[in-house]
Amino acid sequence: MSHDIPLAGVIGDPIAHSRSPQLHGHWLARYGISGHYVPLHVASGDLDTALFALPKMGFRGVNVTIPHKERALALATRVTDRAAAIGAANTLTFLPEGGFEADNTDALGFYENLRQTLPYWSASDGPALVLGAGGAARAVIYALAQNGAPAIRLANRTREKADALARLFPAVEVIDWADAEDAISGAATLVNTTALGMVGQASLDLSLDRLSPDTVVTDIVYNPLQTPLLVAAAEKGARTVDGLGMLLHQAVPGFARWFNLTPEVDDALREAVLK
Ligand code: ATR
Repeated sequence: MSHDIPLAGVIGDPIAHSRSPQLHGHWLARYGISGHYVPLHVASGDLDTALFALPKMGFRGVNVTIPHKERALALATRVTDRAAAIGAANTLTFLPEGGFEADNTDALGFYENLRQTLPYWSASDGPALVLGAGGAARAVIYALAQNGAPAIRLANRTREKADALARLFPAVEVIDWADAEDAISGAATLVNTTALGMVGQASLDLSLDRLSPDTVVTDIVYNPLQTPLLVAAAEKGARTVDGLGMLLHQAVPGFARWFNLTPEVDDALREAVLK
C-alpha cells in the first residue's frame, strides 16, 4: 500500500511536554511539505506493537524518547554505529522490506550546536569536563571522543555510573564529584548533562571560581535557556552555549530521511520551538 502524505512523530511516555512536534511542524510549514509530525503517547509495554503498526499507516519514521530509547535499539533490524556506541536510539526509520533502522542523533546535535554557535570551538581544543553520567552524558562523551577531545574528565554524584561509562570510552578519566570544582581550571569545554538547573530542579551547586574565560561552557538543559550555570559562567567572562540548539540539531537527520529535505536550523526555528 502506498501512502501519499508522509507521516512521522515522536513516541514517549509522557509525551505532552515534547517540543518535537513544534520543531518538525515549523519545518513542514516552512518548506511547504504536506506531511504531518505527531506526538504519540505509547506506554512501555506497547512499543513493539506500535512500531509494527505505524509503517502500515503511512509513517516513514519516528523519534523515540523516554522510556523507549533502549528498547527501540534492541528491536531494530539495523543499528547505526553511533546508536550502538551510545546504547540508545532516538531516531527510527522504517525500512521498505520491513523492520526499522535505529539511529542516535544526540551526539551530532550536541556537537553541531557548539560548532555552529562558536565556529572557532573544537573538541580538540583541550580537555573536556563532563558533569553527569546518564544517557545524555553518553551521547556527549561519544561526540567529544569522536571529535578528538584529548581528555574527557567525568564527574558524577554516583561514581559507579561514571566508572561504567569509562569502561566504554577509553578517553574518559573519572574524577570524584567533590573534585569537579578543581578540574574546572583545566577544562577547555565544560558540559552539564545533569538535569540540575532545569525549571523545577535544584541548581548545580558548583563554584566557578577557577573557571577560565577561555573555557566554553554548555548545558544540555534548555528550560530555562540561561541556566544558573550559564549565567554564572558568563559573569566570569566565559563563552556559553545554551542547550536548545542540541534539540534542534538532533532533529535534522530524521526530518531529512522522512521528508527528503535537509532542513535549516536558524533563529526562526528557535523562536517557533520556544513558543
Ligand atoms: P539523562 O538521560 O537525561 O542523562 P539520567 O540517565 O536519569 O538522565 O541521568 C541523570 C544524571 O543527572 C545522572 O548523572 C544523575 O546523577 P546520579 O547518577 O548520581 O543519579 C544526575 N543528577 C540528577 N540529580 C542530581 C543531583 N541532585 N545532584 C547531582 N547529580 C544529579
